[in-house]
Amino acid sequence: MGIEIVDSIVVTGNGPLKGQIPIAGAKNACLALMPATILSDAPLTLTNAPRLSDIKTMTVLLRSLGTEITALQDGKVIALSSHEIDNLKADYDIVRKMRASILVLGPLLARMGRAVVSLPGGCAIGARPVDLHLKGLEKLGATLDLRDGYVHAEAKSGLTGAVVEFPFVSVGATENLLMAATLARGTTLLRNAAREPEIVDLADCLRAMGARISGDGTSEIEIEGVDRLGGATHSVVADRIELGTYMLAPAITGGDVELVGGRLDLVSSFVEKLDEAGISVEETAAGLRVVRRNGHVGAVDVTTAPFPGFPTDLQAQMMALMCTADGTSRLEERIFENRFMHAPELMRMGADIDVHGGVATVTGVNKLRGAPVMATDLRASVSLILAALAAEGDSIVRRVYHLDRGYERVEEKLRACGAKIERVSA
Ligand code: EPZ
Repeated sequence: MGIEIVDSIVVTGNGPLKGQIPIAGAKNACLALMPATILSDAPLTLTNAPRLSDIKTMTVLLRSLGTEITALQDGKVIALSSHEIDNLKADYDIVRKMRASILVLGPLLARMGRAVVSLPGGCAIGARPVDLHLKGLEKLGATLDLRDGYVHAEAKSGLTGAVVEFPFVSVGATENLLMAATLARGTTLLRNAAREPEIVDLADCLRAMGARISGDGTSEIEIEGVDRLGGATHSVVADRIELGTYMLAPAITGGDVELVGGRLDLVSSFVEKLDEAGISVEETAAGLRVVRRNGHVGAVDVTTAPFPGFPTDLQAQMMALMCTADGTSRLEERIFENRFMHAPELMRMGADIDVHGGVATVTGVNKLRGAPVMATDLRASVSLILAALAAEGDSIVRRVYHLDRGYERVEEKLRACGAKIERVSA
């Protein structure tokens, strides 16, 4: 990756949004599906893939290991082939850009018996260690040695199935162990496993490759190891976080928008909260239609939790909506230790937010005012865009490279519904 051009996005509050927004494939599913190619020497084709910078980063990482990758149909189809894995080292320079790189560890160990993967390091929203990934792989018989910032992992005689009990839910650790266990000798049981739709999507793809998996989507997943996996073609599940994010665009502007490709089962706890706040969501033939009932939004309380609870990845966006609600709402962030960096930026727009530890108390104001603000992490940046859509006057959101990691063509999708939004190079 060259020097990132620091783009900004200018938004001018422009009243209710109306129209359609297409929902892309899930970034967080695709970032686990792509490393699954390492498990097999046969081709894996992913369709409905999102066009995002994180996907490009994963492509660079997998190519560095020897995987051949071709992007087709403007990146919506990704053809991967790990016939030859000729490098077992995932370099710090790539891993530091994207934590999901750790997801090559389990597959490399399972297929090649060895891996040297840089520790991802923390990120803006928290320390985000990978101890559960490492302890789980040791349970499957891997020997791990941490030195000079890398995990040196070995499983010379292959991995052996075991019972892995997670002390708390981890999406990434569940994914790493799920992939590693597909080629382990015997049966693996993952207890207190993550239940996110992205886990089910990964299990669907692995089963299409010949893996024997049951219980995905519940907190107990059983995997019966097989000798080898074949190829598959798999369509990436719709992105529930992009979906939830764009559902808030009509909610915060008082509009009426249809999210094409949206699935109600992916966002049920989120929809419950929206309904409580006075936003109605109905299923249509093409997806989900969101309309704000009687002109105002009611304040609601939110506590983030692993799926099927309220997603931490929608907390920042929900806070933006609550900044314009009637009354006071309490948002508790229980997954990450530092995920309120959007609060001070929203306060620059006139929001009334009080943050104490993991709890933010938001008192709605009549109108937010446009202001220059700074994106700090992926979901914080889009919460600022949402607030700017409803604010009076111009806002300029800086460092939007955060945004491009998780949202494809955000200004095009919003402009198509009447938003006044432009990308400007700094
Ligand atoms: C995934 O991250 C998502 N990323 C995150 O989305 C999402 O916020 C998170 O799951 C929770 O839903 C991808 O799927 C690529 P975790 P992950 O392991 O797997 C701690 C976005 O905006 N933990 O479920 O890294 C960890 O620090 C991103 O798209 C350990 O302590 O999340 C966190 O506090 C942000 N040790 C909590 O558990 C471990 O070994 C949940 O983390 C692993 C995790």
